[in-house]
Amino acid sequence: MQRPEPEPCRENDEGKFEIISRDGVARIGKFHTKHGIVNTPTLLPVINPNIRTIEPRDMWDNYGVECLITNSYIIRNSENLSKSAIELGVHALLNFPGAIMTDSGTFQSYVYGDIEVEPAEIIDFQKKIGVDIATMLDVFGKPDLNFDESKEIVEETASRSEISVKTANGMMLNGPIQGGLFPELRELSAKKMSSFDFTIHPIGGIVPLMEKQKYLDLIKIISSCRHIIPSSRPVHLFGCGHPHLFGIAVAMGIDFFDSAAYALFARDDRLIMPWGTEKLERITEWPTASKTFSELTPKQVKGLSKEERTILLAKFNLEISMREMARVREAVRNGKIWEYVERKSSEHPALELAINHILDSSDDSDFMKWVESSTTIQKSRGVLWSKKINRHPYAKAAKKLISEYAKLPKKDAFGNEVKQEEWNIIVIHGVRGPWRIRCKELIIELMSCFENIQIYVQTPIGIIPYSLEDFNPFAHINGPDTIWDYNAKDFEIKCNSMIPIHGTMGAEKAIKELINSGLKLSNSKLNDESVEAYLDKASIITKTSLYTNLNYDISEEWLSNTSFFKGGTGRIRNVFDSEGNHILSPRLEDGGITLTIDGARKLFEFSKLGMCKIPLVKINDDSIPFVRKGRNVMHGFILSVSEKLRPGMPCLIINDKEDLIAFGISCCTNSEANELKKGVAVKIKSGIK
Ligand code: GUN
Repeated sequence: MQRPEPEPCRENDEGKFEIISRDGVARIGKFHTKHGIVNTPTLLPVINPNIRTIEPRDMWDNYGVECLITNSYIIRNSENLSKSAIELGVHALLNFPGAIMTDSGTFQSYVYGDIEVEPAEIIDFQKKIGVDIATMLDVFGKPDLNFDESKEIVEETASRSEISVKTANGMMLNGPIQGGLFPELRELSAKKMSSFDFTIHPIGGIVPLMEKQKYLDLIKIISSCRHIIPSSRPVHLFGCGHPHLFGIAVAMGIDFFDSAAYALFARDDRLIMPWGTEKLERITEWPTASKTFSELTPKQVKGLSKEERTILLAKFNLEISMREMARVREAVRNGKIWEYVERKSSEHPALELAINHILDSSDDSDFMKWVESSTTIQKSRGVLWSKKINRHPYAKAAKKLISEYAKLPKKDAFGNEVKQEEWNIIVIHGVRGPWRIRCKELIIELMSCFENIQIYVQTPIGIIPYSLEDFNPFAHINGPDTIWDYNAKDFEIKCNSMIPIHGTMGAEKAIKELINSGLKLSNSKLNDESVEAYLDKASIITKTSLYTNLNYDISEEWLSNTSFFKGGTGRIRNVFDSEGNHILSPRLEDGGITLTIDGARKLFEFSKLGMCKIPLVKINDDSIPFVRKGRNVMHGFILSVSEKLRPGMPCLIINDKEDLIAFGISCCTNSEANELKKGVAVKIKSGIK
């Protein structure tokens, strides 16, 4: 079936970038253009207007290409091309219905030395030929330049920005970031370029690094400037087209890539495989399936003429590159981008070095803080264990949240007041979750026999309170049995003692073990129901505190007189406060909680008293009638946000007069709430009439 022509965007949507789904700073986006929506992250094939190895129309029809990049300087310098482009427009010249980005000649100045064009002139030309996204004439900052030379390039590029934006006069424009290998210059460049009205920010000057596989340098460049660029502007990695790098770059917040490699490698009889490049001469059997070679053997391809072979190889390379980008997008949608990245790292030593650098980097860097605070903690499904799972941003963010909000309670199951340093922590280990099924009898028996004890469980990404035993991602990790073994280093809470107990140890043996460890049996024994009620309450208190940023002590006070409605499996379905109002419901699928209107109202009261840091999102009057009815809060209607918003976490919606309007789950961070102009900002659970 013929692929339909693209639909132009609404006039005032042109250039808007919308986030549809995310995994941390890796985002699935929609970039709106007059030649259709460009779904990101995406790969723009480079078209040399003089040598079109694959016809752009073929790319649209058969390869799912939504946007390509060509060079306005080359078009301008050819009398024929330039004449047709001006007369017919660049889309007709290339016979491509999708979005077209053009470069400006900067790369030619890097390859050939001086070029003859002025910054305003090349913008004017791009406007004349009707490109969707033009590029200013930046100065290519080679990585071997010294600090002063690189700084001059940053300054010169910035100084050309004003005239470039002015000449573009509403045409979408790329504002490249230069700065060589100097993080402070990349940062400076990002700050300067962000202050102009550009649509996209490419990170430039990296081609020489790509050619020498200096991936570590590339990753350091991204981490020095990516977080400074406004979230409403997509970021392009100029000249990066190797599938090796798609995953890590997307995980670090890159949205656009471009590839000349598909054609250049083909000319050299090289094939781009998902795991690296291979020479055609070394291939006896196709190691990966492709549409391009479905009816040809490697021997037959080797026997083709050079021209035919180059076209076929280019098609294969493009097919594989596009497919690899689709794999990356799938990983983002499924919350598995870091899993994908870690697995990818084994494909090349330079890639491994770069990926380890990011995973092992200090949590205190501005970049890592940005990544972590943009990360949704909970996943919609299980996580596959990997060696560095502890360093994945969602694991670090989840642990931080637990250490901030999941405190030890004031009282034990017997009702004794216990000081923090008096608690004895029993760590159940060696068993995977759900612990409420595998270890409940053991836990209840221990809690009913010993005073001053709390139960924690060992997971591969840290020791967590039993009250969070179904909290995803801790509870849903797949891997070998050994990953559940006790690891004392995972525990940071001050207490009297910490005693590991294997989850398969029977209660009798465990009791002996605790006595041997110095604990005394209580004079009385609690009944199972009272221990279970204590555990249920602890779980609601901890989860409420964690999800709503409610001070733990206040959560304990508010929820100590709650009652529950339980489902057939014995799990809590609804929680009622002391006055019988339904305030929240635990979510069985991920261990989270869902608020009700009464719960949201109470949290709003706590927040006004300074006891709860649940974010308050103040919205514009125009959107209030819709949001009150339960419609989502859209970007562009947010006036301010009181606290830190985290995607996937609850927030309250208020109006200018500070009345509670609705509550929901945030889809964004604070900077996104301030900067994005399209898309859903908060998914509303319920409006308040
Ligand atoms: N193509 C590859 N690198 C660059 C760059 O730094 N600037 C521009 N304009 N184009 C590029």
